[in-house]
Amino acid sequence: MNQVIASTKTKSRILSDDEIREIEHEKTHYPYTQAVGLEALKIVQKYQGWVSDESMQAVSEYLDIPLADLEGVATFFNMIFRRPVGRNVICLCDSVACWMLGCEDLKTQITNRLGIEYGETTPDGAITLLPVPCLGACDKAPVLMVGRDTYRNMDAEKLNQLIDNLTE
Ligand code: FES
Repeated sequence: MNQVIASTKTKSRILSDDEIREIEHEKTHYPYTQAVGLEALKIVQKYQGWVSDESMQAVSEYLDIPLADLEGVATFFNMIFRRPVGRNVICLCDSVACWMLGCEDLKTQITNRLGIEYGETTPDGAITLLPVPCLGACDKAPVLMVGRDTYRNMDAEKLNQLIDNLTE
């Protein structure tokens, strides 16, 4: 049974049973509901691929967290996607250590091979490219993330192999 989240303000969507089950599970880890906002958005993104306005509204109402607060969380945490993305999202660190060690070359390689700039998705929906700030692995720069996987000490050959894997 899906739970309908009613809204009289802005349109909302229906959170699935799986989303609700995981959000309820997360609630057991936190002393108060407000703290669950980020985890709830991650859960929605896991199932939906991104967090639409309708999903944001649904989570706001389900957890009784003001929409503005939730938007603030999503803005601060840049791994919450507020627009549709491809099946794989390459999050390329462009902070100083990665910049010094060649992230721009990696970005150019991606652009040349896939024809996408930052913020764009390949026409087949396979890959989105996004710039992200420091991923906390500066000693292994340049670094990128795809999903939960972090790729360190990236170079042209490793990147080509990764793209092969993501597009096969
Ligand atoms: S600057 Fe890229 S991981 Fe820190």
